[in-house]
Amino acid sequence: MKKNPSRRSFLKKATLGSAAMTSAPFLISAAEGERVLMQREYPNETYSANDQINLGLIGSGIQGIYDTRSALTVPGVKLVAACDLYSGRLDRAKELWGEDIFVTRDYRKLLNRKDVDAVIVATPDHWHKKIAVDALKAGKHVYCEKPMVQKWQDGQEIISTQKSTGKICQIGSQGMSSLGNEKAKQLYEDGAIGEIVMLDFYNDRYSAEGAWQYPIPPDANPDTVDFDAFLGNAPKVSYEPKRFFRWRNYKDYGTGVAGDLFVHAFSTLNHVIGSHGPNRALATGGLRYWNDGRDVPDVSITLYDYPKTDTHAAFNAAFRINFIAGSGGGGGFKLIGTEGEMEVGQNSVTVRRSKLGMVPGGYSMVAYTEATQEKIRQGYAAQNLEKRDSALNTGSTTWEAPRNYKGGHHDHFYNFFTAIREKGKVIQDPTFGLRAAGAALLANESYYKRQPVDWDPVAMKLM
Ligand SMILES: NC(=O)c1ccc[n+]([C@@H]2O[C@H](COP(=O)([O-])OP(=O)(O)OC[C@H]3O[C@@H](n4cnc5c(N)ncnc54)[C@H](O)[C@@H]3O)[C@@H](O)[C@H]2O)c1
Repeated sequence: MKKNPSRRSFLKKATLGSAAMTSAPFLISAAEGERVLMQREYPNETYSANDQINLGLIGSGIQGIYDTRSALTVPGVKLVAACDLYSGRLDRAKELWGEDIFVTRDYRKLLNRKDVDAVIVATPDHWHKKIAVDALKAGKHVYCEKPMVQKWQDGQEIISTQKSTGKICQIGSQGMSSLGNEKAKQLYEDGAIGEIVMLDFYNDRYSAEGAWQYPIPPDANPDTVDFDAFLGNAPKVSYEPKRFFRWRNYKDYGTGVAGDLFVHAFSTLNHVIGSHGPNRALATGGLRYWNDGRDVPDVSITLYDYPKTDTHAAFNAAFRINFIAGSGGGGGFKLIGTEGEMEVGQNSVTVRRSKLGMVPGGYSMVAYTEATQEKIRQGYAAQNLEKRDSALNTGSTTWEAPRNYKGGHHDHFYNFFTAIREKGKVIQDPTFGLRAAGAALLANESYYKRQPVDWDPVAMKLM
């Protein structure tokens, strides 16, 4: 890990450019709004049928399909099997990937197949741990969707099983592999914003789909849906299609807004600043609008403390989710430091640099006589402190991905499959995954206990 960033190294490196990612050298802009194109080179790879990685999909719902589509953009990968508990989704899998793929409602049958090398686990959160562990033990490489676990106590079992089996396990916060996140990490380490002071994250939504009111197919019934298997270890309840198709709304199966959405932000934040995560959280919020039977909040505001480490100063992070955003929706992720701020996305990063003005000269001088004001100014001048006017607004630069960029989702799968082929490392292993999920799940601990909670980010457990 890099030590705390320094402005001097940022200025030095910024003028040299970055060979790995950018085609054009990037410069600190004196003017507002300089734009620089980032670039990613992909090697030209072709694989014979023998060298192909055969993929099985477990949980062929919304994200399972997006995951598989991204996975199949990586050369040398083929989908050979799909598993789901609703028969309509198995029909959809055949429609998308061919009649000849193997389909089943029982994931253990998929894991028993010798022709499956790796699996995607894209089931609801309460199934992640069990299926990921079973898959690793069955000798499969695993791409497990975020949040890695529904309960932080379950994380160590995935970590130890991955280590004992030696199989590759990537956790699915795909933004971390993106050009935008990679550039943000480089800029942070080079001191682009000085010392971090705050992280500002928000996700405002204003649609039924954004609030997890997903469509329920007309043919859903106890024959087409294996509801008992879906429940798994969750409390037994009779068939209720809303619970199956809108599982995020229930804490028995999902992890609320924190596990669903905060976790991506934690993955990016911990990656960019090289951190293990926060050590304290305080959450509030409520269920204000979507009174559709759900038992998780639709508004959440959570404050986190990050302790000082080798790679960052102590700082606070503010996370906000609103599923009733009458303003129309939107989102942001901003690192704020002593010398500027950095807005981070998957396809772009904007740095606005500034410098703290140390010389008074504005509204506070009104209380002194003209003569005293002059003496004060002379005193500051003698100390050679930077003047506010010249020190502020030292420029902004935006780094952008090119139009043909394949995206963070592709890059995350590329990283996974490359690690399988080269017996290498993934960017988001289960230890990283547990730190991101654990930080997010702290919000739920605090919300339901109605009190602040302490977390050990190194040992990954509640204090
Ligand atoms: N990385 C991302 O950006 C991202 C985005 C959305 C969702 N996700 C994650 O992906 C996962 C799935 O979310 P979704 O929106 O696709 O949900 P979904 O309900 O659309 O799909 C889940 C599917 O899993 C199936 N399933 C449930 N239990 C199963 C079991 N035991 N065995 C086999 N199949 C089972 C269901 O039948 C369903 O079709 C969640 O963990 C979610 O947090 C990640």
